[in-house]
Amino acid sequence: MKFFVDTADVKEIKELNHLGLVDGVTTNPSLILKSGGKIAEVTKQICDIVEGPVSAEVVATEFPQMMKEAEVLAKIARNVCIKVPLTLDGLRACRAIRNDLGRQVNVTLCFSANQALLAAKAGATFISPFVGRLDDTGFDGMELISEIRTIYDNYDFKTEILTASVRTVNHVKQAALIGSDVITAPPATLRALVSHPLTDKGLAAFVADWAKTGQKIG
Ligand code: G3P
Repeated sequence: MKFFVDTADVKEIKELNHLGLVDGVTTNPSLILKSGGKIAEVTKQICDIVEGPVSAEVVATEFPQMMKEAEVLAKIARNVCIKVPLTLDGLRACRAIRNDLGRQVNVTLCFSANQALLAAKAGATFISPFVGRLDDTGFDGMELISEIRTIYDNYDFKTEILTASVRTVNHVKQAALIGSDVITAPPATLRALVSHPLTDKGLAAFVADWAKTGQKIG
């Protein structure tokens, strides 16, 4: 399973990258706003740190302007993956970006299995179902991941499931159990994966006992 980090915070990305935890990055207009930077500059900085795909999202809602924006974003770096919304214009742009620009495409704002089916047929590299936002509205986000896994496997679609809007460590575990290809999570959620009280307790005991031996290694 690949780990993408869902942030436009360059400092956070650098730190997680040092840990070897970053296979890619996802950004969106809200995360760019939060970063306080300009999209081209922030995206370039991220692409200089991370080798894997860095999703940068078009903001136009109509096909011709989406394509113009996709061309601008694609020029920032070779690993920019163009993110488009799950609309008819977005699906058309997905196909065109794959065919004409030769770029990876992340189709975002997916909330149903049928939407995911359409994205796969449009040749999407990644489909981004938003599990947290579905949970927020009383639906089961993980049920959607399961449905998409079944549909993609039924037809051997190559589109990768990129579980997004991840809010908890449990989302990560459930996505892994179902067989999501990728998860994208905020830095704090990725860091929280390592935590277990028994690990902390066990380590404290080992450190204390070792001190009592009076020994040193090396
Ligand atoms: O990857 C999509 C993500 O940024 C949305 O997350 O928490 O705003 O629903 P959230």
